[in-house]
Amino acid sequence: CGIVGYIGYRQAQDVLIHGLSKLEYRGYDSAGIAVYDNGVIRLQKSVGRLATLEERVKGEAVLAGMQGIGHTRWATHGRPSDANAHPHADEQGRFVVVHNGIIENYLELREKLTEKGHIFQSQTDTEVVVHLVEEMYNGDLFQTVVQVLKQIHGAFALAIMAKDEPGKLIAVRKQSPLVIGLGEGENFIASDIPAILEYTRSTYIMDDGEIAVLTADGVECFTFEGNPITKEVFNVTWDALAAEKGGYEHFMLKEIHEQPRAIRDTLSGRISEDGQRVVLKELNWTTEQAASIERIHIVACGTSWHAGLVGKAAIEKLTRIPVDVEIASEYRYRDPIVPDNTLIIVISQSGETADTLAALRESKQRGARVLAITNVLGSSANREADYTMITMAGPEIAVASTKAYTTQVVVLYLFACYLAQQRGSIGASQVPEILQALKGLPELAERVLETAPSLRQFAEKYKDKEDAFFIGRGVDYAVALEGSLKLKEISYIHAEAYAAGELKHGTLALITEGIPVIALVTQDDLYEKTVSNIVEVKARDAYVLTLAWQGDGEIGKYADEVITVPRTMPFLAPVLSVIPLQLLAYYASVARGNDVDKPRNLAKSVTVE
Ligand code: G6P
Repeated sequence: CGIVGYIGYRQAQDVLIHGLSKLEYRGYDSAGIAVYDNGVIRLQKSVGRLATLEERVKGEAVLAGMQGIGHTRWATHGRPSDANAHPHADEQGRFVVVHNGIIENYLELREKLTEKGHIFQSQTDTEVVVHLVEEMYNGDLFQTVVQVLKQIHGAFALAIMAKDEPGKLIAVRKQSPLVIGLGEGENFIASDIPAILEYTRSTYIMDDGEIAVLTADGVECFTFEGNPITKEVFNVTWDALAAEKGGYEHFMLKEIHEQPRAIRDTLSGRISEDGQRVVLKELNWTTEQAASIERIHIVACGTSWHAGLVGKAAIEKLTRIPVDVEIASEYRYRDPIVPDNTLIIVISQSGETADTLAALRESKQRGARVLAITNVLGSSANREADYTMITMAGPEIAVASTKAYTTQVVVLYLFACYLAQQRGSIGASQVPEILQALKGLPELAERVLETAPSLRQFAEKYKDKEDAFFIGRGVDYAVALEGSLKLKEISYIHAEAYAAGELKHGTLALITEGIPVIALVTQDDLYEKTVSNIVEVKARDAYVLTLAWQGDGEIGKYADEVITVPRTMPFLAPVLSVIPLQLLAYYASVARGNDVDKPRNLAKSVTVE
């Protein structure tokens, strides 16, 4: 989500809408602004893109006034709707709040506040903050906020405004980014620098556990205990466009680098504190519900389909339930057999892919239960499925999917563990060990990102090749498919992924001198078999780049180049091994001068057949 705040001499509405437009990459399912004017706080909010809100506040509905706060949302608690859009206000409209992050203890607080007579208008976790402020208000907004912060747990960035204290805005940061823009006779709050870059380059970057009190003439900063602190001014030097991408040249590169965070957020709250069990509140299946599943069909398109292939391996390994993975555009038209007790899992980053939705509807009609794995709360897939697991990747802007894929795979691992645990399947005893390994993935992913310079070199060296091959066995083959799709999508180099053992049945004819072959070798039990396939292509003078575990002293003998990833359980390898392949595709695309984020002929979300 994105937050903005303004106090000064300009029309706040214009500054807020402009700021939000620069933050839309952080979320775009609903937006809202609140402006203080002559003793009243006026509010406008709307589900949908910012343009809908903009349309609404034109003409008569214009919110006049020189101080206000605004928000663009990416739903996590409560689906996108006008009521769930921020800002949130108390019943009397005395206080307004915008929030980014998660208030972990909101249910408990909501109950207490409801008992005290507060009436909630939304399903969001945020709304408890504004009611708490109202409940605890003692005539001093700042002191009240200090008290409120003692009550709320979680990660949050907040901007708060009170009707009875005009000329003041309060900003709070805990584990969710927030910057203060410093102007002359005006000051700003924003989740990210691009929102304020048009007005000032002088900023305070707020640290965790800090409160800022803004007036038009100055900004004071405090600790959560209310003690004053001195901040250093940070002068922004980069240009606006780079700022929007967090300093990265392209959204895709930014999103690749966000993967450790995205994986961490996706795991968060889904593993019990003692690390022994998966906790999926969104499913809450009884043993009988879990035990009644006799087969699973995973249905998806593109990258999401590739995630499904990894999911199949995990679910079958841990539960021994047979899983079929199908391309949605095929599934919907082939009169699929959906016996009783079939669970359908649809995977869709956007939750709006037409083929995937059609398959979802088809299988529901045939009486199946449907679980959606999607990145977008409130999407059609989320609304139409019986159950939803959200991937916490955050908005993905680049057409080529990266962080959505890794988080889909992580969700599938969690689901496989959950199913095994609830059914008492063969794999149930391995669950604690797997969860431990899953928790280690963000840090390992961080280390894999360090392979970027080598992949850049490789990509630059091979940028003029017209063909490439990706080979692997088991889940390495699933990742090979994804690596090859990435390369095709954005570099336009023709690539083929092959199950390494299948090469000799035809494709070997295409291996000639200097052809790049990317071979994945992370599956220990298939190691020798894959090595012999590498030897086959080397014998035809291919140029082989292998992707292997760190500490593999052998593989270098068979390959021209080796990229390594730090060790984890082999069946979790895809989360790590896909990252170098994403980087390879990225650098190849850059080297060939392509439009990385918007490749030709492709769309982020294909809502037509
Ligand atoms: C489009 C995108 C792909 C994506 C596929 C499925 O083709 O270009 O990157 O994998 O749709 O999208 P979904 O939103 O359903 O995961």
